[in-house]
Amino acid sequence: MITHSLFQPFSYKSLQLKNRIVMAPMTRTFSPQGIPTDEVAAYYEKRAQGEVGLIISEGTVVNRPSSSNDPNIPHFYGEKSLAGWKTVVDCVHSSGAKMAPQLWHVGIVSRRNSDWRPETPFEGPSGLVNLDTKDGSEMTISDIEQTIQAFAQSARDAQKLGFDCLEIHGAHGYLIDQFFWEVLNKRTDKYGGKTIKERSQFAVEIIKAIRNSVGNEFPIILRLSQWKQQDYGARLAQTPKEMEEWLIPLAEAGVDIFHCSQRRFWEKEFAGSDLNFAGWAKKITGKPTITVGSVGLKGDFIAAFKGEGSEVDSLDEVTRRLERGDFDLVAVGRPLISDSDWAKKIRLGNSTELKGFNKDDLKVLT
Ligand code: FNR
Repeated sequence: MITHSLFQPFSYKSLQLKNRIVMAPMTRTFSPQGIPTDEVAAYYEKRAQGEVGLIISEGTVVNRPSSSNDPNIPHFYGEKSLAGWKTVVDCVHSSGAKMAPQLWHVGIVSRRNSDWRPETPFEGPSGLVNLDTKDGSEMTISDIEQTIQAFAQSARDAQKLGFDCLEIHGAHGYLIDQFFWEVLNKRTDKYGGKTIKERSQFAVEIIKAIRNSVGNEFPIILRLSQWKQQDYGARLAQTPKEMEEWLIPLAEAGVDIFHCSQRRFWEKEFAGSDLNFAGWAKKITGKPTITVGSVGLKGDFIAAFKGEGSEVDSLDEVTRRLERGDFDLVAVGRPLISDSDWAKKIRLGNSTELKGFNKDDLKVLT
């Protein structure tokens, strides 16, 4: 297996990483009342000890009444939650990794397994949970402005707590992605419109507000996906030109690194080239990109939600593309749930010891 390229250092603005391996953000719902516990800190610290370069936290919600859809999802606001995150980031640093919180607002989504709901209705661009059903409120201009400020405040706090960069969750059909997607965004004001460029205005304003809060040197990562949890086949950009209209304004607003979420990283984005989403995002914007999606595993992560595990797969293809310069960083999700030493095993060439992904590992935080 060719793996050395995964262990080249990476540097961008104030961020210096010892290798190219990123822990993908993964919701674990082990933070009662939104407060990350010492067990949460120990969980991330173990991945740092296992030699991950950059850890992106599970989605952690900004300060809006209905930004979360589960009481055990961590908050990124409030004294106790921020104190919990301070412990997490200190533990991660003491074990040699860098860390970003993933700042999140769920928008309007179908309920999770429990019947828990926030006290106020879910909020989204047009109140829609799918093409023809309302299940929340249409955000007013004041709601939008307060949400932008909530992201900016969490960004300021991330920097103050000592995080090395931050990630905005703009993917997978959650709030920011609901604004991008014409199916859920029917607005007729400046936050809606026929083109992806017009529907990106909400994201652009969040990025600009965050940039104002954290200064120029603190890297802002933006996670995006074509697919939605509401429709795996959805596409925001059908052509490279549409992708330019989507990504260039986001880059100009202040994104440093694009985190391009695919279910399978090897799938090409457009006909006529084998470049994947991260490859196109880098080609279009000139910015560093992160690829993700079934790296080192045979099955994709939607199967995990249906209760399936996954077997180990070779890293040859991802390293080939990394060495070709398609993208700069490689995010790994499920393998790091089942095996905190995944990165270390790769570095040492112990690939026969890799564990794959065991679905039962989702039930515990170890
Ligand atoms: C996820 N994923 C995810 N993505 C995200 O942006 N924020 C999140 O909070 C979560 N939560 C989450 C929980 C669990 C249990 C899984 C398995 C996945 C998606 C994740 O970051 C990643 O994109 C996918 O898992 C694909 O990567 P792997 O698992 O194929 O390496």
